Amino acid sequence: MEKISFNKSLVISSPHPYVLVTTIGRDNLPDIIGIGWWSFVSWDPPMVGIAVGYKRHTFKNLEFLGEFGLCFPTENMKEGALKAGTISGEGKDMFKVCNFKKVVSEFIKPPLIHGSKVAYECKVAEKLDFGDHRFYIAKIVNIWSHDSKESILFSMGYNKLI
Ligand SMILES: Cc1cc2nc3c(=O)[nH]c(=O)nc-3n(C[C@H](O)[C@H](O)[C@H](O)COP(=O)(O)O)c2cc1C
Repeated sequence: MEKISFNKSLVISSPHPYVLVTTIGRDNLPDIIGIGWWSFVSWDPPMVGIAVGYKRHTFKNLEFLGEFGLCFPTENMKEGALKAGTISGEGKDMFKVCNFKKVVSEFIKPPLIHGSKVAYECKVAEKLDFGDHRFYIAKIVNIWSHDSKESILFSMGYNKLI
């Protein structure tokens, strides 16, 4: 065994499941962020947690409205999914940037992403600060699925999805 950096450990322990999180802010523009640091945190009730950096536009949106969509993109959405992980949505309509179609949510304001294998509507229940990220723990209030044979996406380091 040898000692390595945290950054290298994240790259060589890839692939990690990659999700897209939709939010909406004061500007009323829906944003999409690619997230690798997320987890299911409760079975009953179903809950999920996402780590969002303080510098992200998504962070501002979540502080404005504690609701988000958590979507599992599929292989045919790879190009747009990588854009969501590399381009900030500040002042942009990320649905246009990523070439994704919106699906109107039932219980939250942010839209979901059409074609996602699974999409959750989530409402923030608790926030925890860790270093340079805030961990948003949320209740899953609605669950959608798109019938597809495509597989979901995983991140390989920070610039490749498989
Ligand atoms: C594979 C991958 C995983 C990422 N995981 C996270 C994450 O867990 N949390 C986070 O805040 N940013 C993460 N990012 C970075 C954001 O997706 C990126 O900075 C995005 O452009 C921020 O958009 P926003 O400013 O519109 O919120 C990740 C990027 C990639 C490529």
